[in-house]
Amino acid sequence: MPGTAPLSPLLDVRDLSVSAAGRELVSGVGFTVRAGERVAVVGESGSGKTLTVSALLGLLPPGVHAAGSVTVDGVEVVGTPESRLRPLRGRVTALVPQDPGTSLSPLSRVGRQVAEPLRAQGHSRRAARARAVELLGQVRLPDPPALARRHPAQLSGGQRQRVAIAMALAGGPRLLVADEPTSALDVTVQAGVLDVLRRVTDERGTALLLITHDLAVATSVCDRVLVLRSGRLLADGPPAAVLSARDPYLSELVTAARETSLVAA
Ligand SMILES: Nc1ncnc2c1ncn2[C@@H]1O[C@H](COP(=O)(O)OP(=O)(O)O)[C@@H](O)[C@H]1O
Ligand SMILES: [Mg+2]
Repeated sequence: MPGTAPLSPLLDVRDLSVSAAGRELVSGVGFTVRAGERVAVVGESGSGKTLTVSALLGLLPPGVHAAGSVTVDGVEVVGTPESRLRPLRGRVTALVPQDPGTSLSPLSRVGRQVAEPLRAQGHSRRAARARAVELLGQVRLPDPPALARRHPAQLSGGQRQRVAIAMALAGGPRLLVADEPTSALDVTVQAGVLDVLRRVTDERGTALLLITHDLAVATSVCDRVLVLRSGRLLADGPPAAVLSARDPYLSELVTAARETSLVAA
């Protein structure tokens, strides 16, 4: 589209605050994510990661309010009614949840669930099924046609998370948001899922906002790391700068990260 500011960021967060019952839980957070960029949001448990990304997606729980500004592909999210945000979901932004149990139905075959958003976009049943099998292959699941016929309970945790990623990709989003997508998985399985996130975003030029309490996970996938502490942004920079910072909170995150096998010492 000529003239539509291709240089403006895909996600632009300015002075974002999130409050509940008069208490400010996230304060004055600002950052941008450009098309194709992979950015991690890191912080200890309770630092405000989930509330921040929920605010970006317009998915805050009842009684929790955002102030400030968040634009996604130029559309203001803060204060915008649900009905106007719905068209963005799946197509501009898509969420990979922590627990694929929350996005996968136990009752329906995996292929059908991945095909569902494609059907909703107007693809024929046959085209949607074929595309779903293709997506299952792109997240490196073995024997996609056979896997598509299984139910979620017949898959491992790592396989279910790959299916959730395939579902999130189905609408062709420009920004994938993943909130602790590997926290429930053991380290070797985790590495495989992170590799899939890295590859699928690379291949498509999809931006990634990866939320994790684990700095090792963040630096293994992302080009930039944002650090949250007590609802405030403490750092925003390339992994090397964050890893070498002399802040005690960051040192603690680095020490915790070195205990896992993913980060270079
Ligand atoms: N729905 C809610 N109502 C009130 N407080 C909340 C709610 N959700 C989270 N909080 C509080 O906000 C802070 C940040 O939570 P959260 O964003 O979930 O942290 P993180 O994802 O980094 O672990 C925590 O102190 C948490 O207790
Ligand atoms: Mg969280």
